[in-house]
Amino acid sequence: MVRRLDAVSADEWRARRAAAAPRRVAGPLLDLLRTSATLTVFDADHLTHQLQTATRAFRAGADDELVVAALFHDVAELTAGPAHGKVAAELLRPYVGDDAYHIVRTHSDFQGRYYNEHMGLERTTYLRWADEPWYGIALCFSDDWDQAAFDPDYDTRPLSFFEPMVHRVLAEPVRARASA
Ligand SMILES: [Fe+2]
Ligand SMILES: [Fe+2]
Repeated sequence: MVRRLDAVSADEWRARRAAAAPRRVAGPLLDLLRTSATLTVFDADHLTHQLQTATRAFRAGADDELVVAALFHDVAELTAGPAHGKVAAELLRPYVGDDAYHIVRTHSDFQGRYYNEHMGLERTTYLRWADEPWYGIALCFSDDWDQAAFDPDYDTRPLSFFEPMVHRVLAEPVRARASA
């Protein structure tokens, strides 16, 4: 019986690693997403906001990784506050490509164009990313999907619509998918 890690041998670590089941993150992340319903911003709770952001991305023809990124982009808002984009991006990182990762990581810089100056903050922070290959998509993500997704009258798809896509995208890390 293991009581302390400093007593575990290399062989025991290797055996544990070999016996470990693949990590399944879709279920826990969906559970976390559901807790967003307890946070309300203007007239939309934050679960609806993320569902609406994802719905807008889906209807615009975004690929599955970007739709899933839209669905989870504020999943850490309740727990991480101003760092929520970075936390959400790291949660998604193994399962999405560079564009989706960076767009989630930096989305507050782009969203800040709509409210930073009302709070005495710098509005142009987003320009630091202007040379990045994902800059144009990040603008679209913010302008057309994220900042517009507080509309209670919009025809927002329910979570059940996105769940199969979430399970597919989060089934295994991008590197494992690429080598399959
Ligand atoms: Fe956000
Ligand atoms: Fe958002």
